[in-house]
Amino acid sequence: MDEPHPPALALSISPAARALISQHTPFRFHEVKLGGAASQAPTDTDADSGRGASTVLEPFLPLSSPSPTSLPLILTPPRPSDPPALVRTLNDPRVAFSLVGPPYPYTEEIAREWVDFKRKAAEEAFAELAQRAEEELARREENATGVSEASAAPWIVDGLPVGNIRRADTGEWVGDFGLPRWNYEDTPDEVERDQLLKENDAKEAGEPSIIWTFGFFLNPDYHGKGIMQHVLRTVLSTYVFPFLRADEICGAAFTENRASIRTQEKCGFQAYYTFTRQISEARGGGIKEVTNLRLRRVEFERA
Ligand SMILES: CC(C)(COP(=O)(O)OP(=O)(O)OC[C@H]1O[C@@H](n2cnc3c(N)ncnc32)[C@H](O)[C@@H]1OP(=O)(O)O)[C@@H](O)C(=O)NCCC(=O)NCCS
Repeated sequence: MDEPHPPALALSISPAARALISQHTPFRFHEVKLGGAASQAPTDTDADSGRGASTVLEPFLPLSSPSPTSLPLILTPPRPSDPPALVRTLNDPRVAFSLVGPPYPYTEEIAREWVDFKRKAAEEAFAELAQRAEEELARREENATGVSEASAAPWIVDGLPVGNIRRADTGEWVGDFGLPRWNYEDTPDEVERDQLLKENDAKEAGEPSIIWTFGFFLNPDYHGKGIMQHVLRTVLSTYVFPFLRADEICGAAFTENRASIRTQEKCGFQAYYTFTRQISEARGGGIKEVTNLRLRRVEFERA
């Protein structure tokens, strides 16, 4: 018997709160009909009425246009229909042998758990933003003069809760973009690395001195079109520097992975460190060189 799909995103955010969130963050909202590939296109934005059982309110990050392929692309939380594309992509040697993180082979069950985990993280992040917005709306209502005092609480999110690159027209899953905090793999001394990790992880989201990193991969059908360069540049210019207020972000790739290194370099990253890593037997074993790259806000703004 087929396993049930992971459940769809469940968010209830009033149109007024959505408008406020979109005013204070780079996120936008639309409604999508889930249930079949053809029915995954967005419906009317911000319409609150007439939502059917299969219609879901979805936050997204627009990817500035034009994209190099003229494909309309957005970043969204995962959808229940994503696991088969994730499984195909992460078992494809063109992707699997360039990555360290995800399990390999990658099963449908792992994909469903991952999609579910990311869906919950997105629900939590947007529930917090919705609460922030409702508090602001309540304060405005209480204010008899209609002049609201600004709240001290920041509009901030920890990381990127919309990590799925998707076609805005068909809903097709195109790739993944994760934005965790830096892992200090460029620090050989273990004690020092643990200390730096602890300090970086303990910082409040929005603190400029947090060092971020990213991981990305595309469905091989979409390789070779410059898509990731477009995604990375947009995430940097609309999210990492202006919204997370980061001063610095680091990247990594196997030195042999020219497409990844070139993608990062074209967005302004510069290589600064190399080390070797033992590769798991499942991924072919042996030793590979890793290159670390970094980009500081000042360099990005200068470019
Ligand atoms: C890395 C990845 C995301 C790049 O995405 P992409 O948008 O398809 O990148 P492209 O193939 O369009 O290439 C980007 C740049 O690298 C260059 N490039 C690609 N392959 C190259 C090669 N073998 N040698 C030299 N340059 C190469 C391209 O010419 C392009 O540069 P340009 O704009 O100056 O012409 C994609 O290849 C992928 O998903 N790979 C598997 C997973 C992976 O490696 N993830 C990153 C782990 S660090």
